[in-house]
Amino acid sequence: MTSKKRILTGDRPTGKLHLGHYVGSVANRVRLQNEYDSYIIIADVQALTTNFEKPENLSRDTFQIAEDYLAAGLDPEISTIFVQSMIPEIHELAAYFSMFTSVNVLRHNPTVKSEAQQHGFSDMTYGFLGYPVSQAADISIFKAHLVPVGEDQIPHLELTRKIVRRFNDLYKPVLVEPEVLVGDVPRLVGLDGKAKMSKSLDNAIYLSDTSLEIKKKVMDAVTDPARIHKNDPGHPEICTVFAYHKVFNPSEVPQIETDCRQGNIGCVDCKKKLIGCLDAMLEPMRERRANYLLNPGLVKDILLEGTRRAHGVARETMLEVREAMGINYFG
Ligand code: TRP
Repeated sequence: MTSKKRILTGDRPTGKLHLGHYVGSVANRVRLQNEYDSYIIIADVQALTTNFEKPENLSRDTFQIAEDYLAAGLDPEISTIFVQSMIPEIHELAAYFSMFTSVNVLRHNPTVKSEAQQHGFSDMTYGFLGYPVSQAADISIFKAHLVPVGEDQIPHLELTRKIVRRFNDLYKPVLVEPEVLVGDVPRLVGLDGKAKMSKSLDNAIYLSDTSLEIKKKVMDAVTDPARIHKNDPGHPEICTVFAYHKVFNPSEVPQIETDCRQGNIGCVDCKKKLIGCLDAMLEPMRERRANYLLNPGLVKDILLEGTRRAHGVARETMLEVREAMGINYFG
């Protein structure tokens, strides 16, 4: 047993990871993986809350996200990457949690509400309404101390803490109340200047984008519409490219800001600088990805081994949970 504190976090496998995921959460996971005993869940069952009609993409998306994690720098020797559906104990714990979780509380969860709206649900399925309960089980079955996530996950972490407190009060204090950690950039703007980078808005730069794709996307990005000529004074505060410089090129920001306001740097040159920074950040990820892809079967082995390790932890917690609840009738 390690004495390190534990991290549990993860994502639904619904497509490629983009820069918003990276700065919102994945970079934190990479940074903290040596300090914490880290578990990364690929939440394929949670993905079914919206994708149950077309589960055929789940396998592809599960491997895709695993590759993205590994490319981003999660080290499978240190971090345990695993698949949710392979750990049935999570769903058992969720069932126990559901007994004392109020439907009204679930109905008022702002993230669930906005996702329901985004998917155009007029009614919610039981599984969708209840996924934050299942997420509380994902986290607490690992007795995680810290959960690095994007800001949209904060309501789910509040619920998790509440459920853990209730469980510990009702039965025995066997579960751990987790803290939430939101990345430096809780929300990254999209290439089109919309509030959020997202796959569904088609305004994202992916960790797996090639150099050429990055170049094209950044060159097409929206800047200050008032700048028609290179020497027109700019307004960095409304410019998407400047917003990205703040995140990916902080050391040059004061200079770029002055040059833009004075019309000393044109948008094309400013974009070229950004392309250079993004490529420098993504290049090591491309190299790692290429190495994993050279070795077919490696990603699958990593997921199998991670899932085996995670399953061991989940089984142990459930022995304690059943004992605490007095439902271990046969010893
Ligand atoms: N809800 C998260 C998302 O939408 C995914 C997730 C599932 C998760 N279980 C988790 C995140 C446990 C952190 C901890 O991406």
